[in-house]
Amino acid sequence: MTALASAPAGATLDVAKIRADFPILSRTVRDDKPLVYLDSGATSQRPRQVLDAERTFLETSNAAVHRGAHALSEEATDAYESARERIAAFVGADVDEVVFTKNATEAINLVAYGMSNASVGSPGDRGVDAAAERFRLGPGDEVVTTEMEHHANLVPWQELCRRTGATLRWFSVTKDGRLDLENDPITERTKVVAFTHQSNVLGTVPPVEELVRRARAVGAYTVLDACQSVPHAPVDLHALGVDFAAFSGHKMLGPSGIGVLYGRRELLEALPPFLTGGSMIELVRMEGSTYAPPPARFEAGVPMTSQAIGLGAAVDYLNLIGMDAVKAHENELTAATLLKLQDLPGVSILGPRSTEARGGAVAFEIEGIHPHDASQVLDDSGIAVRVGHHCAWPLHRAFGVQSSIRASFHVYNTLDEIDALVAGVRRTQEFFGVAP
Ligand SMILES: Cc1ncc(COP(=O)(O)O)c(C=O)c1O
Repeated sequence: MTALASAPAGATLDVAKIRADFPILSRTVRDDKPLVYLDSGATSQRPRQVLDAERTFLETSNAAVHRGAHALSEEATDAYESARERIAAFVGADVDEVVFTKNATEAINLVAYGMSNASVGSPGDRGVDAAAERFRLGPGDEVVTTEMEHHANLVPWQELCRRTGATLRWFSVTKDGRLDLENDPITERTKVVAFTHQSNVLGTVPPVEELVRRARAVGAYTVLDACQSVPHAPVDLHALGVDFAAFSGHKMLGPSGIGVLYGRRELLEALPPFLTGGSMIELVRMEGSTYAPPPARFEAGVPMTSQAIGLGAAVDYLNLIGMDAVKAHENELTAATLLKLQDLPGVSILGPRSTEARGGAVAFEIEGIHPHDASQVLDDSGIAVRVGHHCAWPLHRAFGVQSSIRASFHVYNTLDEIDALVAGVRRTQEFFGVAP
């Protein structure tokens, strides 16, 4: 195994050593150009430690978890549950508050479908006990979200409203890319407040504690989309006081095909299941079934096992670096990007221009050039950025643009790569004859 560069908080990271852990970062693209990977907001790369953990598990202990009594099944179950423990500790949660899902999208849908399952029929109908009544929604109730959400934290709530007759309301976004807290849609009718911990486009970090306070004041549940926060900064879900939270393994140096739903124990115990079948039951008769306590209740079927083990290894890897150090490093990259792009005539940044209450996703436009055209020129120089609406169409509409270019980072990125991006943007302007 490659040694990992660990750094005390505040110290400069040995990024070269970290990069050596990521085999993909040493490859070249487009006629032998070094890869400049600035798309970790979409998906991050995986270190050898994660790849090794998955491979070792598959080569030595692969079996269906929680099913057999044989040696491999026992080892697989232990490895799977050990990953859950480490992932729970990583986000300040208890082990039985962590449910494995396919990704964050599925985790948010799990909550929305759980709530709509609680909203049809009467208690006892489908093994839903009276406790689920607290999640019942209907006409007159409201779900609040924000204009800066990824579609994953918007469409499931639109659908929940459609199924139950509830109404969707939202916080708007100000011109400088913050939530408009002055025009607050939360009222006594609000049952759910779903919002992002960090915008995947603007990098904006909304005031979680304040939103939780406002939601609690009217008895509404909070659902935090932590997809862009958990991979990049220390997050303590108990301290934040949210009711539910979701994040994805593939954005935090872990595998794809694994996500996490966090739910306060008391709420997971009352929430009806989303998917049903094997592994999530307590008792099954032809007349009906009862369900296991969480987290098993929400993990129907054989789960994604090597992916959970890989995510456990990703958490170990991040812990060794230290999330304070990860955050400080990405903050430095973000500050440099904001500063240098702002200096370029013809380039405008969407969202906050300082690093205050802001993480490392920098979306921008180049005057006179369509983002897709820009990305082709950047790609030709080996620079991987994301272009499009980044699954945040309403947000782009609020800014009056169709799409944008987004650079996003992880712990393996360097200041030299930021310089490469800025030089690439200048080259793009020259190529299209719009250089000022
Ligand atoms: C803020 C945010 N929420 C949700 C998602 C959805 O994540 P996944 O596709 O892994 O479910 C993403 C992915 O880009 C995201 O950035």
